[in-house]
Amino acid sequence: MTAPRTAPRVAIIVVAAGSGTRLGEPVPKAFVDLDGRSILSRSLDPIFGLADPAQVVVVAPSSHLQQARDIVEQSAGAASDACGVVVGGDSRQSSVASGLAALLPSIEIVLVHDAARALAPGSLFERVVAEVESAGRGVIPGLAVSDTIKRVDASATVLETVDRAQLSAVQTPQAFPRTELVAAYAAADREFTDDAALIQHAGGSVAIVAGDPLAFKITTPWDLRRAQQLLAETSSASRPSASALAVRTGVGVDAHALDADQPLWLAGLFWPGEAGLAGHSDGDAVAHALCDALLSAAGLGDIGGIFGVDDPRLDGAHADVFVLETVRLLAVAGFAPSNVSVQLVGNRPRFAPRKKEAEEFLSALVGCPVSVSATTTDSLGFTGRGEGVAAIATALIASATQPAAGAVT
Ligand code: CTP
Ligand code: MG
Repeated sequence: MTAPRTAPRVAIIVVAAGSGTRLGEPVPKAFVDLDGRSILSRSLDPIFGLADPAQVVVVAPSSHLQQARDIVEQSAGAASDACGVVVGGDSRQSSVASGLAALLPSIEIVLVHDAARALAPGSLFERVVAEVESAGRGVIPGLAVSDTIKRVDASATVLETVDRAQLSAVQTPQAFPRTELVAAYAAADREFTDDAALIQHAGGSVAIVAGDPLAFKITTPWDLRRAQQLLAETSSASRPSASALAVRTGVGVDAHALDADQPLWLAGLFWPGEAGLAGHSDGDAVAHALCDALLSAAGLGDIGGIFGVDDPRLDGAHADVFVLETVRLLAVAGFAPSNVSVQLVGNRPRFAPRKKEAEEFLSALVGCPVSVSATTTDSLGFTGRGEGVAAIATALIASATQPAAGAVT
């Protein structure tokens, strides 16, 4: 691998050296056909489409080195001076280690990505790079878990229900400061299932950002069929046909009066020292407008029709209860959220200092990017007089066979 004209700061290690036992195809998984091209070739599309060129290190099985080189050369085009192929090891971890050994001296940030997540979009790579730049620590994409999770013992007896609000199904690309990742690999004394676990074992801390349902891992024949179906859908959707329209939009509005005796919960966050909002639940107008926008996009009515005010489970309920149920109902109806935008209208709380925190929390809950902004009304109306707050949301959702989250294994 030769140094490119402008030395890149970011490297992407694409691990593709696994055998794909669970997929059960005669060739290693990265070389299995996915709608006319290999899984490896598909996984490189978003990487070579990034605005800022990165060093790309593909880690391949020794049996398929030349095929990997050919695929990389074809995908890279003019960027081929910043990429190369190295031989992997017996485990994913040793394959990543081979990739780390090939980093250019200029690299400061390293992304590790499974070739098996062949449909991960470019926006996910951009998101983790932006976050690792600003946070200065490891950043991994994750999606909220929608199934109820049980802990079981060896005799298949259910021991307990795990609180899913605390769980995240994590994906790749995972991004880390180079020095931290290299040091953690040097110190690793056993195998971990992802790089974030290895960093944490070495004492480092890692943040979660919103993942993407398309970044699911092709592990089984069923996953491969799902990926094939998605690609077929995309190519038919790109033809100008009315029936191929696969996205829908929705709008939601909510308002709550201030109630100084209540604690304030807004945008899923607790705001100590601020006057709260009146309502049967916690009065979180941002979360409620968000749910209404999603429900209206899917044609599923509104939050009032779905969560009855006399339901005792909703006494003081917070955003997660409403949002997770809304996302579940959308999934049952065959829809996946693509993005949600919410604007809070009110004098207080001062939203800007916690905007990022709110966006990350809600994005993880919904499983797609959620942006939240805030404005005042120049002292006009009930929000201007400080009698309450309002929120307005729009949502974009995609129909039909969007995949569910695929966790790192
Ligand atoms: N991987 C690797 N080197 C290994 C094992 C895995 O580079 N020795 C890569 C795979 O190619 C894949 C990613 O790590 O892109 C995630 O691993 P997984 O999905 O488990 O792939 P395989 O190990 O190939 O599949 P299986 O476990 O079913 O054999
Ligand atoms: Mg494996």
